[in-house]
This record gives sequence, C-alpha cells and structure tokens, in this order.
Amino acid sequence: MKLILQNLNNQKTDKVPFWFMRQAGRYLPEYRELRSQAGGFLDLVYNPEWASEVTIQPVRRYGMDAAILFSDILVIPQALGQSLRFETGEGPKLDALKSPSDIEKLDIENIDQVLNPIYETVSLVKSKLDSEKYNQTALIGFAGSPWTVACYMIEGGGSKTFAQTKKWSAEDPQSFQKLIDILVEATSHYLIKQIEARAEVLQLFDSWAGILEGEDFNTWSIAPTKQIIENIRVRYPDVPIIGFPREAADKAVQYAQKTGIRAIGLDYSMEPEWARDNLQNLLPVQGNLDPQILLEGGNALETQTNKILETFADKPFIFNLGHGVIKETPPENVQNLCSIIRNFKK
Ligand code: CP3
Repeated sequence: MKLILQNLNNQKTDKVPFWFMRQAGRYLPEYRELRSQAGGFLDLVYNPEWASEVTIQPVRRYGMDAAILFSDILVIPQALGQSLRFETGEGPKLDALKSPSDIEKLDIENIDQVLNPIYETVSLVKSKLDSEKYNQTALIGFAGSPWTVACYMIEGGGSKTFAQTKKWSAEDPQSFQKLIDILVEATSHYLIKQIEARAEVLQLFDSWAGILEGEDFNTWSIAPTKQIIENIRVRYPDVPIIGFPREAADKAVQYAQKTGIRAIGLDYSMEPEWARDNLQNLLPVQGNLDPQILLEGGNALETQTNKILETFADKPFIFNLGHGVIKETPPENVQNLCSIIRNFKK
C-alpha cells in the first residue's frame, strides 16, 4: 500500500510520507511558463492536458508521496452559475450573492457541464502517474468546505473578516442554510465524481473555519462537513478524507470527533505538542510547518522540521505545511525540506 494510504489507514510507517499544500504553483518556473502560455489561471484549470501537467510538475522535481489535483475551491460557485474571474495580483472576484433570491438562481442540475474537464484532469493525472512510474504517489482530490466557499460567494472575493457572511448567517440562518445545503449537495457530487475518476484521497479545505465561534462552528463547519462525508461514505466507504479546519484552534478537537474525517490537517498556529496530545491521540494528523519558515530556509527550517517530525513520527502522520507554499519561496528550499524529511530517523 502507498505510504500515505498506510498512514491514513492508521498504520505508522518507518518513513514519513509528505506532500505540500500549493505544491504546484507560482514558486516553480515550469508552472510560470505554462501559466503564461495558458493566459489566465482558469484557462489552466479547465484544460485537462495543462492542468494534469501542472499537477505532476512538483512530483517530477521532488518526488512527493502525493500529487494534489490542480484546480481551485471556487470552481463550485462557478459551476452553480456564479461568475468567477481571477485578476492578476488581486485574487478571486465573484458577483457577490446579495439576497435570498440570488441563492434561488443557483443551478445545481448542470454543474458537470462546467466540472467535466476537471474529472478528465483527475483521470489523466492518474494515468500519467502510472505510466511515468510514480506508482507510489497517491492522487489527492479536493473541494472547499461549504462555509468557506459560501464566504467567497457572499463577499464576492477574499476578505479579512467576512463580515457580510457572518451577518447573513446570523440574521437570516434559514436562507443561509439553503445556500449551505446546495453546497453540500454539489460538493458531495463533485467529490464522488473525483473518486470515480480515480482520486485516492480527498481533502476538504475549511480555510475560514476559524472565524466561527461557539455553536456557529458546529452549525456551519462541522454539520455540513459531516453530511458530505456521510454522502460519500454511502458509496465509497474506504476513500480517506482529510479535513483542514484552518485556525480552528481547540475547536479542532470537536471537528475531529464529530465530522467523520479520517485525518486532520493542522495549520501552523498549532503547537505540535498540543496537537499530538489532543488530536493525534484521536486520528492521523497532517502538517504543520509554517510556510514562512520554508520561504526563509536555513537553520530555522531544519530545526522546526525536525521538531515536527520528532513530535509526530511515533504515530500515523503525514508531513505537510500549515498552509500553502508562498510564491516567493526558493525552489531549493523545498528541495532541502524534502531531504530533511527523507533523512529523518527516529
Ligand atoms: O495545493 C495545490 O497545489 C492544488 C491547487 C489549489 C489551488 N487552490 C491553486 C491555486 C488548491 C488546493 C487551492 C485551494 C484554495 N483556493 C483555497 C483553500 C486553501 C487556502 O489557501 O486556504 C482557497 C481559499 C482558494 C481560493 C483562492 N484561489 C484564492 C484566495 C486565490 C488567490 C491567492 C493567490 O495565491 O493568488 C486563488 C488562486 C490560486 N489557486 C492560485 C493557485 C495556484 C494562484 C493563481 C495564479 O497562478 O495566479
């Protein structure tokens, strides 16, 4: 069994498997070249030939234990009919949902018309990994969690506080629940189709889980995640699903206990010892090097990487960053990180 799948199936291995969030992307010259040929980011995402190449680029360079599908969490709003564009240097822009009638306009019936090229990318990556003899590299599919995706849909892009989304969910929870239900259904379908295209592991990104407090965390992060996992399990009980409730802090314990995830991603604000004692005692963990430390490299990179490895390597563990690779990261720092992980011996 592939190293990463062994760990996700609760078996500790001598070698620690690793992959990095945003391992494909702008820090790699080969990515920037293909990106400039493609034109826009979304042109790359919806072209299976290009998207599959970009997915495999970091694996060719560094030999990670997993490739993650090259796509974005915001293809779901686009497939539901909301307009999406990426403006250079500005991040995503959507036509913000403003009222319950905008939710009514979302169309879940035809999402595969938009998403079909992504399923094709998944299949193509899998056959390329097989034919290029990366037969120990697992393929990870992914989606955003409903809360996080709803945040972008309501704000119309990124935000520091996601104030409109918080306001809507607090003042009109009924219509907000409708939006979440649509996202649960679309996301379940989307992930099942990725499994059918031969994704071996799934990750749910709840990047803005941390802004939810108290009961809201239960209602808008845990409950929809649990529902998606149940929907997938009915059909594919064995496919491991990693949850990444970013900045959830001690609420990550409830998330780990209640959602049904197989493993939990740790962001870089989590203290390794705390996560070992409160989360890794429940399920396999993945994380959690600060991407800023990777960008800076040098001694701090070596010290912090070894600290993480020493803390977690006694139990099922996947090394990763605590958030995505930063675009200014020198590619040789990533090479160093891979060597430190590979050379680690308990
Ligand atoms: O990890 C990978 O290598 C797989 C691909 C991937 C991308 N986005 C590619 C991408 C994944 C898993 C994502 C997830 C994603 N997208 C999240 C959740 C993870 C997180 O970062 O918290 C979120 C919130 C998004 C939405 C999104 N997409 C934003 C806010 C941005 C702009 C920020 C930025 O870095 O430019 C994107 C754009 C994006 N998604 C890029 C890439 C490689 C950069 C696009 C480019 O080439 O210009």
